[in-house]
Amino acid sequence: MPIKLEHVLKRIQALPPLPTSAMRVIALTKNPATSAQELETVIAQDPALAASMLRQANSSYYGYARRISSVQEAIVVLGFQATQGLAMASAVAPFLKTGLSGYDMEQEGLWKHSMLTAMTARRLCQNLKLPFGDVAFTAGLLHDIGKLIIAVYVQEVGPYLLKKVSEAKVSYVEIEEKVIGYNHATVGGMLAKRWNLPEDLVTAISYHHDPSGAENYTKLTNVIHVANGLANSLGMGGGVDSFLNPLLQESLEDLTLKELDLELLISSLGDLLIDPSLFN
Ligand SMILES: [Fe+2]
Ligand SMILES: [Fe+2]
Repeated sequence: MPIKLEHVLKRIQALPPLPTSAMRVIALTKNPATSAQELETVIAQDPALAASMLRQANSSYYGYARRISSVQEAIVVLGFQATQGLAMASAVAPFLKTGLSGYDMEQEGLWKHSMLTAMTARRLCQNLKLPFGDVAFTAGLLHDIGKLIIAVYVQEVGPYLLKKVSEAKVSYVEIEEKVIGYNHATVGGMLAKRWNLPEDLVTAISYHHDPSGAENYTKLTNVIHVANGLANSLGMGGGVDSFLNPLLQESLEDLTLKELDLELLISSLGDLLIDPSLFN
């Protein structure tokens, strides 16, 4: 039986707000006039954020031989955009590092999937010369946050959902919506609104499994859809539903991505997977 909207909203309200530092990094990301100095000031005000950022900055992914020991140094060495992404990832990590037994996700499973989706989304934007790589990174990080809210319901009816998916031969999100009343993308959009996230992020999160439903920001939404599919196919899936939500041909066409582009992208992403410290 579908759950009531008020129950979903109650669970959304019970979740702590997004940290102020994350909100400020998002605001800085949106403003093209943001300076490195402003970014440094925001990060420095949150020591836990700075520490977690530096841990990641020193992973071999960034390929810097010497130790990066300050935020200022990170900005100089890694560049403004990479630092901004690191700050965002570190700010939302506590939310994503929870196990979700409803989706058969071990502790940190959602975190790893979200990070890989974020990095893939940014790389897709680079390859396609789309100007919103930073927003795509953040959208990739947050695309599955709705799972935090509905995992408890999914857990109750998990076997039934799987049975229904194989019987009806439709996607997992469709069955999620039919049985529970909401799918994790829609609920993620509600949470994003509650967190006062900008409209582009709300849209990309809400429609990441159904990009044709997005009225605006369709390119961004398609990028997140494809990045999510690629993260799944790289073996870092977002849960039990990973292979039960198809990668839509329409999204590939909208981004003019061919099979070969995907293969090249997948092999170029292989280097990300070698270094587990990137996902710490
Ligand atoms: Fe999803
Ligand atoms: Fe996902």
